[in-house]
Amino acid sequence: MGNVQILQHPLLDHKLSILRDKNTGVKEFRESVGEIAALMCYEATRNLPTQEVEIETPITTAKFKVLAGKKLAIVPILRAGLGMVDTMISLMPSAKVGHIGLFRDPETHEPVKYYCKMPPDISERQVFVVDPMLATGGSAVAAIDVLKKEYGCKSITLMNIIAAPEGIKAVSEAHPDIDIYVAAVDQGLNENAYIVPGLGDCGDRIFGTK
Ligand code: PRP
Ligand code: URA
Repeated sequence: MGNVQILQHPLLDHKLSILRDKNTGVKEFRESVGEIAALMCYEATRNLPTQEVEIETPITTAKFKVLAGKKLAIVPILRAGLGMVDTMISLMPSAKVGHIGLFRDPETHEPVKYYCKMPPDISERQVFVVDPMLATGGSAVAAIDVLKKEYGCKSITLMNIIAAPEGIKAVSEAHPDIDIYVAAVDQGLNENAYIVPGLGDCGDRIFGTK
């Protein structure tokens, strides 16, 4: 399945079960999406380069590690990806944020782009594309296409909370160079291209639009 990391942790399991429960309300759903994003961010940033700098503690002076290398950017796929941004920014406060708006055509399930705004130096940044759901993979493939072809991005990591095997395959085949971090891989897709068992429509559940 390419460069796919399936994250396993009891806190992720517990919070994922909260998301899956159809009786979970908007407030707890939104909070849980954010908390899961923060836990995933911890793993997805594990290989960021560091460098040693000299720091004077109250006791002595010694060398310690700080982040080095490329600057960071978070790119949520609207709408549901927005739910992952705030907690990730709290961990990476200097990251810039680009937005890409895609919705799935209800008939074809193909992604339709309606908005795109990126930081001007996005091509020089390590980009974390975030979206809670990876279903057919159409939206993620399209978002990464835009970042590579229109903005020249070279370092991209994809973070999805729940993925279908079909989505992982689609992204791995279209973009074998990127790393994908997921918290769960479900059984597959239903006739409406929703993830089974999944959690329903993530955007609607985050924003209370249904
Ligand atoms: C959802 C989800 C992903 C996409 C995944 O967005 O947030 O972006 O579907 O499906 P795919 O892998 O088959 O492309 P949706 O199109 O429902 O838009 P919304 O977030 O605005 O509700
Ligand atoms: N988008 C969602 O929000 N949920 C799914 O199950 C599939 C796509």
